[in-house]
Amino acid sequence: AAIEKGGYEHFMLKEIFEQPQTIYDSLRGRLSLNPAQLTLSGITQFGNELSQAKRIVILACGTSWHAALWAEYIIEELCRIQVEVDYASEYRYRNPIIEKGDVIIAISQSGETADTLVALEKAKQQGAIILGVVNAVGSSIARLSDAGAYTHAGPEIGVASTKAFTAQLTVLHLIALKIAELKGSITAEKFTQQLTELAAIPEKVQQILSTQHEKIKLIAKKYKDAKDFLFLGRGYSFPIALEGALKLKEISYIHAEGYPAAEMKHGPIALVDEHLPVVFIATKDFYHEKIMSNMQEIRARKGQVLAIVTEGDELSKEIAQDYIEIPAADEMLSPILSTIPLQLLSYYIGVELGLDVDKPRNLAKSVTVE
Ligand code: G6P
Repeated sequence: AAIEKGGYEHFMLKEIFEQPQTIYDSLRGRLSLNPAQLTLSGITQFGNELSQAKRIVILACGTSWHAALWAEYIIEELCRIQVEVDYASEYRYRNPIIEKGDVIIAISQSGETADTLVALEKAKQQGAIILGVVNAVGSSIARLSDAGAYTHAGPEIGVASTKAFTAQLTVLHLIALKIAELKGSITAEKFTQQLTELAAIPEKVQQILSTQHEKIKLIAKKYKDAKDFLFLGRGYSFPIALEGALKLKEISYIHAEGYPAAEMKHGPIALVDEHLPVVFIATKDFYHEKIMSNMQEIRARKGQVLAIVTEGDELSKEIAQDYIEIPAADEMLSPILSTIPLQLLSYYIGVELGLDVDKPRNLAKSVTVE
């Protein structure tokens, strides 16, 4: 097992550190620059249906559902197609409306999640086209899909998903760009800019891993005894706040809630006192000013602010008690980068607490029963 872990103490840590490579692998053979080109044959095959689609429904569970929620923001922005995201377990028992020309995207690491599989069977029977974003090659969901794009993250052993999630975000972004290109909803300039930004992501992930992990270890020591955590983000970073909270719950058994930052005043703010760490995704984007005032609101109530900030953002660093810096990136893609420190934070808190981070209690890698 030590050899399999490649010198890392746990599979989870190994898989977190693999991400520069796995993200690169999910781009390889698909993205090229000068001239900017994107090859996704499975998606292109349904080019007509996708460019004419009135609606895309994304179905998933767990971490994959967070990738789905992020994709909603990206697809609506780039493709101007209405997107609905549903938990597969809810969708399968509802009486869902499927209209002619609806496209379903299924997201699954294992490709074997029972709820997702049954939800897809149901949609397929009603005539929907199914596109799979799956990691496990040849899995049940991959076979059921009409077409798709594999995430190519390689086998994921840690029960809590890490590298599979960032590969999902990467591939979903590629799919959104492909649909936008086919549909003509993106300018050539923006298309090139997005592909160029995406191509730079693996190196930026590497930079975060190399420069921030020691610091995150110290931050984990400081916060490990907290009973509750709040994770806040807005826009493209809101789904990442949910994923940050889920990861912490899974690995450390500390109660954590993810929320859209502006929504905190409608409830979670009541929890804020000197014992509550609030993790903010406060990178430079459209919402930055607003997020800074949200951080100030927490400080004013004596909460502890831990912020993920863009390198060199002195103002945010001043507001937060603790901060983790990540390189600047396009605001749609920056969430891929913000995910990395949140994974490390959960990992190190779990390790500090002496827990079995690779196999948390009560959880299964793949939930093949209802
Ligand atoms: C389980 C795993 C999660 C995963 C979820 C969905 O709960 O522990 O890590 O996100 O299932 O799995 P899938 O394989 O469909 O992505």
